[in-house]
Amino acid sequence: MSAHPMLSPSQTTRFRRKLLEWFRANKRDLPWRKQKDWYPVYLAEIILQQTTVEQGLPYYRAFIRRFPHVSALAAADLQEVLKLWQGLGYYARARNMHKAAGILTDRYGGCFPQDYKQALALPGIGPYTAAAILSQAFNRVHAVVDGNVSRVITRLLALEDDIRRADTQKRIQHVAGLLISRKYPGDFNEAMMELGALVCTPRAPLCASCPVSRYCRARDLGKAAQIPYKSPAVPKRRQYHLVMIRERENRILLRQGNDHGLLAGMWGFPVRVVSGKELEQPGKIEQMAPDGLHTKKISPPMRHVYSHIDLKYRVVWLEERPENRDDDKKNLWLARHELEHYPIHKAHLKALHWLDQQMKEAD
Ligand code: ADE
Ligand code: SF4
Repeated sequence: MSAHPMLSPSQTTRFRRKLLEWFRANKRDLPWRKQKDWYPVYLAEIILQQTTVEQGLPYYRAFIRRFPHVSALAAADLQEVLKLWQGLGYYARARNMHKAAGILTDRYGGCFPQDYKQALALPGIGPYTAAAILSQAFNRVHAVVDGNVSRVITRLLALEDDIRRADTQKRIQHVAGLLISRKYPGDFNEAMMELGALVCTPRAPLCASCPVSRYCRARDLGKAAQIPYKSPAVPKRRQYHLVMIRERENRILLRQGNDHGLLAGMWGFPVRVVSGKELEQPGKIEQMAPDGLHTKKISPPMRHVYSHIDLKYRVVWLEERPENRDDDKKNLWLARHELEHYPIHKAHLKALHWLDQQMKEAD
């Protein structure tokens, strides 16, 4: 089988050449592309796993500045890593990255294993990330398939199968492995991702300026914008929370990992799970205040969408009397400015911003 069901071997060669030429002339000037050290590539690929380049870039810069070498990352306190990660979401990525840095420092002498299986065995490294790092940093021939590459390949082939299906993904991976340049695998992978990000975009692909349009079946058929097909998402689980901001003598109660497993290691405010109906009744919420606590204000409903959970919540600003000390050791009572030093997950950061607004108005 040739690299593309429609492409002969010589066409495949021309396809690679066209794509690489385009990439070299049009690629974005991204910091990890300057040198081909594995560590900048590693950092970038972990950060970009579920994040666009625009969103990820400031984080990449902050991490490379604070942890210029893998040993610095390994030596860091996990809390500091999480703090720097704050706002990116999917915090398991930060924890795994920190753990992997420890393994790379201790077991691999500060190098990255060039063997695909060893790379895959590192925490937080899946087939996509392993292929991205090995190809870009060590010129190994492993094809990257991410969302951008999937879209490009399904369009090139006019493949209308559901891209959520594992067999479709397998087919895409197979085609990517046939197409990839043997000589410049890293550039080829980046070129495919870049093409998907800049030209072969989800809604309105810019086929007129596409370097590989003559090899594209979807374009021939006028179907580019309809491909790839993706079956509707499974609805997310809804959750309703009251986020309790408890204030006592100008200090606020903060706790670690209070929500769901997604956020372990992150900090937040105590949460009370309620029903959707309860969330709609501020009068009732006021009566739910624990004994000895006075409800100062209740926020309008807020929303935060996680990968599997659609969270609706209100902030309940509570005041408690100093004599009301029932503390367990996990509780921290912090002044407002001290909260800045803790990695607080996004939903609760929004709660904190709401509180800041209220305090400003009360002044
Ligand atoms: N997304 C993830 N990795 C990337 C890379 N190396 N270049 C462009 N986009 C990316
Ligand atoms: Fe994508 Fe259009 Fe290029 Fe085909 S021709 S790869 S659909 S941009």
